[in-house]
Amino acid sequence: MIVRSEADMERLGYDLAKRVRPGQLVALSGPLGAGKTVLSRSILRALGFDGDVSSPTYAIIHEYSDPAMRMPVVHADLYRLEDPEELHELGLFDDQDSLKLVEWPEMGGHALLRADISVAIAPVADGSREVTINEKGM
Ligand SMILES: Nc1ncnc2c1ncn2[C@@H]1O[C@H](COP(=O)(O)OP(=O)(O)OP(=O)(O)O)[C@@H](O)[C@H]1O
Ligand SMILES: [Mg+2]
Repeated sequence: MIVRSEADMERLGYDLAKRVRPGQLVALSGPLGAGKTVLSRSILRALGFDGDVSSPTYAIIHEYSDPAMRMPVVHADLYRLEDPEELHELGLFDDQDSLKLVEWPEMGGHALLRADISVAIAPVADGSREVTINEKGM
């Protein structure tokens, strides 16, 4: 599908948030500046998180477990991950019930190959984004 604006990307995040279940892995791929964090932020908001959502670029992982949220979420950006083994130390898999929103999943090795929902975002010359969503079992 074509997503014309950041506002439309946020609407897509709200839509996706209706379909996610605790513990699922959502892989968000696409180049720098594609809109992976914009989409993650809107999913977090739709799930009830009401504070700031910053890019987990340096920490690699941010955990969100506000009691107001429909489920806990871990938001990861693996761009700077050096070794997939670090994901265990960082705690990505610590909580089985956390929804995992992962940017740059291709940096995470085999544990991240089988996402429940894969979202690929490709910037188009006119500033819009071509977004392809694959849901396991659909
Ligand atoms: N249609 C669109 N959808 C999403 N973002 C858009 C769109 N058009 C413009 N933008 C802008 O593109 C930028 C996307 O940035 P974002 O941080 O979400 O990218 P990212 O994919 O997370 O990059 P990185 O790999 O660096 O983490 C934002 O500044 C946003 O305002
Ligand atoms: Mg990002």
